[in-house]
Amino acid sequence: MVEIVPGPFTLEGKQAAVQKEVRENYDTYFARAAKTRMWFPDRLEQRDEMPKYGHLISDETKELLLGFLGVESVVDDYVFSGINAAGDSVATRALYVQWGFEERRHGQTFRHSLIDSGLYTQEYVDKFLADTAEYHWTFEEQTGYEETPLLGAAYAILQERHTRWNYTATRMRIWEEYGSPTDAQGKRIFPAIAGAIRFPEIDEGAHEANFLNIVKIYMKYFPDQALDALNKVSHHYTMPIVQLPNADEFIKCVLSAGMADAKEVINSVMNPSLQKMGLENRRALRKAVQNFRKLPENAVVHIQNRPLDGMVPDEETEVYEMLPSGDFILKTNHDQPK
Ligand SMILES: [Fe+2]
Ligand SMILES: [Fe+2]
Repeated sequence: MVEIVPGPFTLEGKQAAVQKEVRENYDTYFARAAKTRMWFPDRLEQRDEMPKYGHLISDETKELLLGFLGVESVVDDYVFSGINAAGDSVATRALYVQWGFEERRHGQTFRHSLIDSGLYTQEYVDKFLADTAEYHWTFEEQTGYEETPLLGAAYAILQERHTRWNYTATRMRIWEEYGSPTDAQGKRIFPAIAGAIRFPEIDEGAHEANFLNIVKIYMKYFPDQALDALNKVSHHYTMPIVQLPNADEFIKCVLSAGMADAKEVINSVMNPSLQKMGLENRRALRKAVQNFRKLPENAVVHIQNRPLDGMVPDEETEVYEMLPSGDFILKTNHDQPK
């Protein structure tokens, strides 16, 4: 049910509305996660298949999997940074805790995959993790900005989508290394690591959707801030900068797998994320930021073909539709007789 919030809004009123909608979003997220994404890395049945398929994994893929393990293992820094930025907001804090729990199981999935496939010994992997843990990730170092809940969510949209995209590519790559197995009907089957990586992959998609929802909530009440945040994080976007013990090899393999190709990242990560926010590409985003400055103060904005949900501005407030090009068109006609 959507509660109708009458305008105009005070700053406090808008902040309260954001908090309330973020909380509702997180309730939905929890309910869905418990129903559709309840899994535990220890219990994945694909683990039993790993010893048999281990020898088929190439050296490059082995390095990629170790690197992903390293990146997933700094997730505590990532999540704590988000919690700090969220401040005393209980709703956001709870969301970050759940998110952290889900990210931790990704690291565990890679750890099991490497060890159970006989690619590295447990001692080696745990030493690698201990070395990685000496490095601490910070949002500021990553993006050049001090983290706020909104900036954190905007960066996370891109990072989560990028991670999912990397995992999909790795799953397909492993499938090929396994000899492109299919079932009797010719349908592709994904055993061992190729099957296990599907679980983090699906989680990352849910994370992307979640952070998109959060930024959309800000877009409704603080469109200027939401556009500014997207602009900031997409300007110099890179995957989490982490100092990995296997950094050189990992980067070499990421490059050769095409996962760091700037054009690919723009086409497969950046632009699809912006399109979900109603903008064509980065140029449209920059244009929207500039055009927004020309709109009257307190103007209300909605994404094209997605009218404001749960919000009825009063007659004084001008409502604009944001086009995929970054232009705005006025939707209310104040010249009409009242
Ligand atoms: Fe993850
Ligand atoms: Fe994630």
